[in-house]
Amino acid sequence: MTIDDQKKIAAEAALEYVQNGDVIGVGTGSTANYFIAALATVKGKIDGAVASSEASAERLRGHGIAVMALSQTGDLPLYVDGADEATRHLHLIKGAGGALTREKIVAQASEKFVCIADHSKLVDRLGEFPLPLEVIPMAQSMVARRMVKLGGQPQLRAGFTTDNGNIIIDVRNLDIENPVELERRINQIPGVVTVGLFAIRGADVLLLGRESEVEVLK
Ligand code: A5P
Repeated sequence: MTIDDQKKIAAEAALEYVQNGDVIGVGTGSTANYFIAALATVKGKIDGAVASSEASAERLRGHGIAVMALSQTGDLPLYVDGADEATRHLHLIKGAGGALTREKIVAQASEKFVCIADHSKLVDRLGEFPLPLEVIPMAQSMVARRMVKLGGQPQLRAGFTTDNGNIIIDVRNLDIENPVELERRINQIPGVVTVGLFAIRGADVLLLGRESEVEVLK
């Protein structure tokens, strides 16, 4: 089974968590796109979706699924999204697509966060994947210096602006021994809008596509 097939079976397995009449949160990325395609096959079951990016909103609308604003729906029963790295503790790195702030907001507003991924995303320790930070542009150098102090190697994501009009700094080589503690620490730096560590509020369920089956981690 290819990696794409593994993403697809993980995404399809997430349909099991969708209940009649739900408005659900939908994430961003290639695995989330498989979920959107799967969701389209049962679209009569849901009342609509809240998207974590403009790209996903457009894709949902393209399938005839109503896209709603989180400020109108209130809290959601379910959020389904991919990840760049995940551990067995269900701590994640997210943000390769640059949608991490909206993803964190929708995850925070959701009772259950079901993360969908192919098995290559499972790691023993987070941090091989560069950690994305969404940063207010004027804080770029200051935040970069703080990351160097933490032992990281920050790099501006060139030519990229987030849906919120900010920049992304990708940080390599951070020692992420304690993801919850590091998330708290980086959250406190002024100018950091969002750190791509999802550990304080990690996933509740991780559906991992493997060779012939979906592994469920809770
Ligand atoms: C988007 O900003 C990310 O958090 C995605 O969830 C992540 O990059 C996963 O993408 P793929 O499903 O394409 O691997």
